[in-house]
Amino acid sequence: MEKNPLEALEAIKKESAIAIASIKDRLSLNEVRNRFLSKKSELSAIMGMMKDIPNEMKASFGKSVNELRKYIETKVKEKEDEFALKELNEKLEKEKIDITLPGRSYERGKINPYYAIVDEISEIFLSLGFEVVEGDDITDDKFNFELLNIPEDHPARDMQDTFYISQNILLRTQTSGAQAHKMIDNSSKNELKPIKMICPGKCYRRDDDDATHSHQFGQIEGLVVDKGISLADLKGTLELFVKRLFGEKREIRLRSSYFPFTEPSVEVDVSCSHCGGKGCSMCKGTGYIEILGAGEVNPKVLEMCGYDPKIYSGFAFGVGIDRLAILKYGIDDIRRIYTNDVRFLKDFEGK
Ligand code: DAH
Repeated sequence: MEKNPLEALEAIKKESAIAIASIKDRLSLNEVRNRFLSKKSELSAIMGMMKDIPNEMKASFGKSVNELRKYIETKVKEKEDEFALKELNEKLEKEKIDITLPGRSYERGKINPYYAIVDEISEIFLSLGFEVVEGDDITDDKFNFELLNIPEDHPARDMQDTFYISQNILLRTQTSGAQAHKMIDNSSKNELKPIKMICPGKCYRRDDDDATHSHQFGQIEGLVVDKGISLADLKGTLELFVKRLFGEKREIRLRSSYFPFTEPSVEVDVSCSHCGGKGCSMCKGTGYIEILGAGEVNPKVLEMCGYDPKIYSGFAFGVGIDRLAILKYGIDDIRRIYTNDVRFLKDFEGK
């Protein structure tokens, strides 16, 4: 070490400036700290030289030493902060989560053709002034059969074997019970208002399921009751309905039939959309495809439900929803309608 403390201080100043400028990592930083700021440093040792300093210079020498120490401390601290910040940034960079990854998208559901056609049919009848009512899937013998003129021993029951919950409670085999409900609702309140309603809903029958048969299927019941309602009203209404649903070119045909709750009864066919009525494999050569049963409400039914058949008359019809959906959308297997396969539903986009 220099003998002269002032020169020694000057030398430390220069060396420390060079050392500080060359700090490039934590290692060189610690070296600088040890070399210039530790107890064993030259800067500490220099204080021991105070005795060689003339008295009048002691104060300013001490001040200069302190200032240099402060300066080195500040520079070391600055470098330390710089490294700490750099390290933090590197760590953050490493641990960064890439939130720009594409999210998981959810597919939009599609409306089932069953409900699409129920909506469409409901719109048609609403525009004709009908109301849409709801019935119950679980009903009793009285509403499913008796009030529809199908007493306990009636042979028509054989065709409608269903799922019984008890002797008397069952899953409805037809929506026709809605007719009785509506008429009794009114007559029990002594409000024999005219009726124009449809009731869409599920029906159940014991069946062996295949491409054209199902133990569950949809029906839409229709009922009009007023004074002077004739078969001509039925024909006009159904003609309009069929043309709205299948197109203006479709024709209907009425064939006489039998249902216990209508008299006379008819079966209604629509001209085949495939051949236009000429006859093809789709309509089995007949030119027509059966779509529904209908008729004039049997006076016995009107009477049982509180409407005097001498004053009132009406027409009723029951149409299979799945059948209409199959015809309109060209579905090849009735089971597709309820097996919930989204690929099937996609086929109906925009139809
Ligand atoms: N409910 C009958 C069936 O399931 C369909 C039907 C026929 C309903 C004639 C009616 C009707 O309202 O008048 O076979």
